[in-house]
Amino acid sequence: MAAKPRISVIGVGYVGLCTAVGFASKGYSVVCSDVDSGKVSKIKAGIPPFHEPNLPQMLEKSINQGYLTCLVNQTEAAVMETDITYIAVSTPSKEDGSIDLRYIEAVSRDIGKTLRQKNGYHVVLVKSTVVPGTTQNTVKPILEAESKKTCGRDFGLCMNPEFLRQGSAFEDTSNPDRVVIGSFDEKSGDAIERLYRDFYHPKVPRIIRTSLATAELIKYASNAMLATKISFINTIANICEEIPGADVKVVAAAMGLDKRIGPLFLDAGLGYGGSCFPKDVKALIACSKALGYEPELLDSVEDVNHKQPLKAVEFVKQQLGNLEGKNIAILGLAFKPDTDDMREARVIPIINELLKEGAVITAYDPVAISMAKSIFQNKISYADSAIGCLKNADCAIVVTEWEEFKKLSPEDFCINMRHPILIDGRRIYCPEVYSEKLKFTAIGLGK
Ligand SMILES: NC(=O)c1ccc[n+]([C@@H]2O[C@H](COP(=O)([O-])OP(=O)(O)OC[C@H]3O[C@@H](n4cnc5c(N)ncnc54)[C@H](O)[C@@H]3O)[C@@H](O)[C@H]2O)c1
Repeated sequence: MAAKPRISVIGVGYVGLCTAVGFASKGYSVVCSDVDSGKVSKIKAGIPPFHEPNLPQMLEKSINQGYLTCLVNQTEAAVMETDITYIAVSTPSKEDGSIDLRYIEAVSRDIGKTLRQKNGYHVVLVKSTVVPGTTQNTVKPILEAESKKTCGRDFGLCMNPEFLRQGSAFEDTSNPDRVVIGSFDEKSGDAIERLYRDFYHPKVPRIIRTSLATAELIKYASNAMLATKISFINTIANICEEIPGADVKVVAAAMGLDKRIGPLFLDAGLGYGGSCFPKDVKALIACSKALGYEPELLDSVEDVNHKQPLKAVEFVKQQLGNLEGKNIAILGLAFKPDTDDMREARVIPIINELLKEGAVITAYDPVAISMAKSIFQNKISYADSAIGCLKNADCAIVVTEWEEFKKLSPEDFCINMRHPILIDGRRIYCPEVYSEKLKFTAIGLGK
């Protein structure tokens, strides 16, 4: 059997580190590089720089067995020692929502410079989410200019979008629904297909081979579809609230049984956040507009999502009137459970709005408190347990659907709060049970 290709990963955020550890845990030799020296020190010590289930054990094992090394800002060394390079750097939004490619450009320059000195065939793989045309029109020209070599002949170029979900990254990378390989040339596409066939052997997922631009668009279309489902069900939730006796949870459960619709991403709540959906929907809108097409549906998806978190504030005001000096308990800060990521978390506009109204806020999250401190500093207080957060509160809002919040009983709220008023922003409680003992309001529940 041919030797396993050696892999470099540039950028060890969620995607880069999970990709690197995934390969290293299966015996591939992986060299990573990242400009963030703090992140690299932690990784070298076997400590993931973010919360992700199963990652600590797998990272430690990969490092101890010598399959994973991590360097500070040494793209050249990482590329030089390997056969395939993954680009996994961030692709944030610019002010106008369009994609900011500065990290992609910087890393392409570094890779190109190294390819100039490197002998042998090398494949560069874009794993970051980039708008259609980026790999062909931005990455390829930079690689060619810096390497003085020709793409497709002297080195290969592929686009391989990532579909992992934070909080279940390993389950997703070891068992993906599909692998998409966009390739500039046949040879590099074949090399990456071989890599994945070996990696997933014997349970190889469906592999889709396509052009670079189609691969890029598959990622955006997938995220835009999921965001659309969320804004759609939130729209139905908002309609339900105007219909006595209606409940969006029951509506969604029945809809989800329809095979054409499916049950996933039909959870009404306070909207989507995180590092991907908001920025990817914005980037797709900007890209589409730049191409001359007005994507009205996506504009509405965004608009609904922008307004949805403020429903929590509306509910609090309906219950308490003037919020000046009122104690509000916030349960959940992370953008979703099982992560400490607060990028675009829905709690941010909620807390900012409550503070504007003069409310006094105490928040609790099982893992995201230190992240929250860097955002809100001492403008809010932080509790070290859910019960501690509820003490003397005039109203509690569930913002993130952590498992431990689901275990809170109506009595936990009644005993600890000054006024037992509960707003279920994620529909984790049974309305019949909780409204018996509490003043209970929930997204998508008819009055
Ligand atoms: N987070 C997710 O769930 C997810 C899922 C699928 C796709 N993606 C996409 O993958 C890409 C990376 O996302 P992420 O969440 O891992 O980002 P991240 O911000 O967590 O990590 C990116 C890393 O790249 C590093 N970096 C930036 N410039 C660099 C350079 N020139 N050289 C070396 N390192 C550099 C940063 O220091 C950072 O550690 C983005 O395009 C994102 O849209 C993310």
